[in-house]
Amino acid sequence: MAFSDFFWNIFTFDIGIDLGTANTLIFVRNQGVSISEPSVVAMNTKTKEILSVGYDAQKMLGRTPASIIAIRPLKDGVISDFESTKEMIHYFIEKVHKDSQKFFKIARPRVVIGIPSAITEVERKAVIDAAISAGARNVYLIEEPMAAAIGCDLPITEATGSFIVDIGGGTSDIAVISLGGIVVDKSIRVAGDELTHDIINYVRGKYNLLIGETSAEKIKINLGNAYPGKENKKIEIKGRDILLGLPKVVTISEAEVREAMSNSLNIIIEAIYDALEETPPELVSDITERGIYITGGGALIRGIKKLFSEKIKVPFVVADDPLKSVVIGTAKILEDIDLLKSINSSDSDTYV
Ligand SMILES: Nc1ncnc2c1ncn2[C@@H]1O[C@H](COP(=O)(O)OP(=O)(O)OP(=O)(O)O)[C@@H](O)[C@H]1O
Ligand SMILES: [Mg+2]
Repeated sequence: MAFSDFFWNIFTFDIGIDLGTANTLIFVRNQGVSISEPSVVAMNTKTKEILSVGYDAQKMLGRTPASIIAIRPLKDGVISDFESTKEMIHYFIEKVHKDSQKFFKIARPRVVIGIPSAITEVERKAVIDAAISAGARNVYLIEEPMAAAIGCDLPITEATGSFIVDIGGGTSDIAVISLGGIVVDKSIRVAGDELTHDIINYVRGKYNLLIGETSAEKIKINLGNAYPGKENKKIEIKGRDILLGLPKVVTISEAEVREAMSNSLNIIIEAIYDALEETPPELVSDITERGIYITGGGALIRGIKKLFSEKIKVPFVVADDPLKSVVIGTAKILEDIDLLKSINSSDSDTYV
């Protein structure tokens, strides 16, 4: 090994980032996943000063006084707030930088960032700028579905079809990949956030009860299911009665949560179906053999594999660690930067 290679291996803290609408994950080479925090930024509305990022900022969502807003800068799979996205990237990179031992700082890191596929050219530049200003040496951008497929160990560079469905916070991304390129690509704005809103609307419609996003997300994570199971677990939920304006408690069951989410899940199923229809027949036969991989937080909904397999009549596979597929994909690219070159997606550009 040349001395320079040795140097880079020991002294760099190359990092991979999954810039998700709901969560940002950062992998640091030789250390593993070192940050997994909500993609939330809290700022002073008057001075625009950033007050906190990540978990600390999330605690403020829905609880802020007029002078502070807590926002999710990447809402709906696109960068909705430029400046705060930049600040957030900067903050997280600085944080891993700070946590690394001092001498790691000698070398500026290479950074691989998984970005939403719907991002515009201007937004890509903003992401690159943010990483450079936070001290990155090189920045490589990769589309999230491609990174997720790499994270799931799918044979993306081979002449075979790999099908991935990433149900994240803002978007469900559906992609068919073959020979290092995305053959079919669909992105719909029905994903985890929408399922959370379905629960809010259901509870309001059925019980006249108003609940916040944080409570609804908890219900989704605890009771969320797509297919009837043996038991019908129930939990108590607290909110405000819309008519009386007073606090009220009601009990909600798994079956009700399933009913609340069924419409959105059907929309995702339709989109997968459409993508399959657009897929060349040769690739379809590979896919029916290997199965369609489901990843992203939505893959954790109980019974989703069963529902999807039954409706689409193709086997589905839930990724091993669905919340980490994209960041694991970026980590694999850091280990093998040639892999990035073999991905002929026009979107995987390099900044040196
Ligand atoms: N156990 C669970 N059951 C159901 N939903 C879950 C579970 N865990 C997390 N989620 C949901 O998954 C979503 C977040 O997933 P993920 O971290 O993959 O999104 P993201 O990568 O930030 O978003 P995107 O890929 O759209 O940019 C949230 O809506 C969250 O509520
Ligand atoms: Mg994601």
